[in-house]
Amino acid sequence: MVIDEQRALAARVALTRQIDRGGVVLSSRVAGAFLNVPRHSFVPAFYRRDGERFLPWRLADGDPDVWLDAVYADDSLITEVDGVHAEDATPDGLTGAPTSSSTAPSLMADMLEALDVDEGHDVLEAGTGTGYNAGILCFLAGDKHVTTVDRSAALTGKARSRLGAAGFAPLVVRGDGAGELPGGPSFDRVIATASVRRIPPAWLARLRPGGVLVVPVRGALAGGMVARLTKVAGGAAVGHVLHTPAAFMPLRSGPEAAEQLPSVPDPGHRPARDSGLSARVLDDWTFSFFAQLHLPAGVVRAYGQNDGGLHTTTLYDPADGSATRVDDMPDAPPRVATRGPRDLWEPVEAAHRLWRELNRPRREWFTIEATAHEQTVSYTAPGGRVHRWIS
Ligand SMILES: C[S@@+](CC[C@H](N)C(=O)[O-])C[C@H]1O[C@@H](n2cnc3c(N)ncnc32)[C@H](O)[C@@H]1O
Repeated sequence: MVIDEQRALAARVALTRQIDRGGVVLSSRVAGAFLNVPRHSFVPAFYRRDGERFLPWRLADGDPDVWLDAVYADDSLITEVDGVHAEDATPDGLTGAPTSSSTAPSLMADMLEALDVDEGHDVLEAGTGTGYNAGILCFLAGDKHVTTVDRSAALTGKARSRLGAAGFAPLVVRGDGAGELPGGPSFDRVIATASVRRIPPAWLARLRPGGVLVVPVRGALAGGMVARLTKVAGGAAVGHVLHTPAAFMPLRSGPEAAEQLPSVPDPGHRPARDSGLSARVLDDWTFSFFAQLHLPAGVVRAYGQNDGGLHTTTLYDPADGSATRVDDMPDAPPRVATRGPRDLWEPVEAAHRLWRELNRPRREWFTIEATAHEQTVSYTAPGGRVHRWIS
């Protein structure tokens, strides 16, 4: 089936307008890139959810106009589940975990604006995926200046041919985006489209002085953030956290590659204490960003409804086996039960007191500094006092 190119162009115009009217102030260059680079060429098939299953959806599956509207919606499009690309999936689909996607265009735009790419900048992207973001980088920097890396040979193969069909010939490399590159070139801009806990030293090393790095940083409570850092003299990178919440899939690299989400144990009905704080507070992205700075990096959260139909959250630290469950109660304060050495709700309660004392600081008021050894998030209160969290 052939795409109606006029309709596709109209969809790009509508999407670009939608991004601009939303939270992102689009520069004319980035707007031009979204208008010119066709998302549908990079995402000929993607998955839609049907309960637990992911069903492939191609242009030929049903009404092409409905498909085109979905491709040009401001949504992330899942293209690979457990290594199976939507193009190669059987019509009844599969269950599993997404392993590649095309990021929501407004989030791409926000990160691209932060990256501030000029023609002639040498740009590295870690996480090629569909190649759509790489296509936009080629439009902005010139394709000879773009290197994009993905861990999957299948994805880099598809992306390379789609970039070629769109008229771009960047260097598309299969490998670890946080590892070594052939020839060890250096870059003016580095962008990651998969998240890390700690900024890999290789990105700092590859960035030229004054160069910019835009990277999603993952925290314990899914309060993901995007950091924008500039390389300074001495090799560190300093910058700030963007306003936009961003839950990117993890970069599978080094020790993070082996990371499996542990199953969260139930602390059961142990002696419990009252709390003045419901765990629903963690649904506020501004606070969950702040709270995760006070918890060990490996903590995971499971949440849902308890037997009474009210909110329950369990925090679990696989490092020492501590598990703390916080249950909302009818007509009573939330109850907190802990198994293991530490009550994991206490640091969240302390974080909440501090957050209120600091007048609920927004994530974009925090700064971030990364060196090869350490990553520090800081907040300077209006009175001048500096709060620092090291990971
Ligand atoms: C959200 S997708 C990237 C979206 C992509 N930029 C696009 O425009 O379609 C994240 C990608 O990161 C890739 N990835 C995960 N770990 C990686 C690693 N260590 N090195 C390079 N790519 C990696 C995944 O294979 C996946 O394709």
